[in-house]
Amino acid sequence: EGVVPFRDEHQAGITTAAQDRMHFVALDVTTDDVDELREMLTAWTRAAERMTVGAEAAPGGVVGGGPWKVPEDTGEAMDLPPSSLTITIGYGPSLFERLGIEDRRPEALRELPPFAGDDLDEARSGGDICIQACADDPQVAVHAVRNLVRLGFGTVSVRWSQLGFGRTSSTSTSQATPRNLFGFKDGTANIKAEDPQALAEHVWIDPQDVPGEAAWLAGGSYLVARRIRMHVEVWDRTHLQEQQTVIGRDKGVGAPLGRSAEMDEPDFAAKGADGAPAIDVAAHVRLAHADNLDGVRILRRGYNFTDGTDGLGHLDAGLFFVAFCRDAHRQFVPMQRALARADLLNEYIEHTGSALFVVPPGLAPEEDWGTQLLG
Ligand code: HEM
Repeated sequence: EGVVPFRDEHQAGITTAAQDRMHFVALDVTTDDVDELREMLTAWTRAAERMTVGAEAAPGGVVGGGPWKVPEDTGEAMDLPPSSLTITIGYGPSLFERLGIEDRRPEALRELPPFAGDDLDEARSGGDICIQACADDPQVAVHAVRNLVRLGFGTVSVRWSQLGFGRTSSTSTSQATPRNLFGFKDGTANIKAEDPQALAEHVWIDPQDVPGEAAWLAGGSYLVARRIRMHVEVWDRTHLQEQQTVIGRDKGVGAPLGRSAEMDEPDFAAKGADGAPAIDVAAHVRLAHADNLDGVRILRRGYNFTDGTDGLGHLDAGLFFVAFCRDAHRQFVPMQRALARADLLNEYIEHTGSALFVVPPGLAPEEDWGTQLLG
């Protein structure tokens, strides 16, 4: 109960029914010693596998090592259930350069281009390695990240970190669609775990995508993270019809404008009573829809955040957008370009952080992240 298998064909935390909470961290590698990194990744694998079933990060645990040893687990998750914890790791383009292992880097792992309207903070962008920990209890997610960071002391250091709540996407048909901080259902038209054909086509890296030395990444995926500030104060002064026009869906039920039920297919040709398109030509869902993008789709798995204030009397709130796709440059990039150019939503949002990682496939029995990356 509440345990997500750690070893599988793909890493957990992608098609896993989205948990309630997330702690995401991007790290920089502070060594150029490949063996040191391999050892850390091996230790991470053991610790992650243990924590996923609700055990302490290492056998000595919190008190098992006796009074004169530093505890092998920090302790804040003692007595808490596994809470569907998943730990998903990924590698940024910079890692391969830093370690001189560029032959193992897939061709598609290149930094994202800049987009119109970006207001990126370097201190919230990039990173050599990422850890996405998701769980139904925030303390369990934070504990997992903290203990991996502790094991990496001297090898990696935290570059940026993000907490998220209230998953903004359903990734399974078994889940009701949650809402984002604009109050709209988010994840209605997402790729779902129950659709293996769409996953194969749009999410998992295919063997033919990664020839030669990059073949180890088949079955993996690309993770795009965008920290998107949402100007909730402006939005909250906007009337309902304008909000619905911006999104292209109805706020209550979540139906595409011109239709009546949440799961109805949007009809982009439909006209409203005034003869104008029922879904505005610059509505978010029209521009992001596969029909507008030569069939491109992605799997969204983001979370809401509020990080205090911006110091100017507003909440620093938004969407920590996380998407998985088979090739970010062929999927996320054209999609975000289309949105950056025309989306009505742009008046209310601002992208403040960005990162791209390749997520390796799941681990076979006995395999660990160190040998998987470095041989
Ligand atoms: C759909 C909100 C950013 C891609 C939606 C929907 C909402 C929404 C309410 C309709 C429900 C659904 O189908 O999930 C937001 C907000 C954003 C944001 C508030 C920023 C704060 C993005 C970004 C991308 C994106 C950055 C990708 C580059 C999509 C896609 C759909 C969608 C692909 C489904 C479109 C369809 O096929 O109908 N979004 N979104 N969204 N969004 Fe976003």
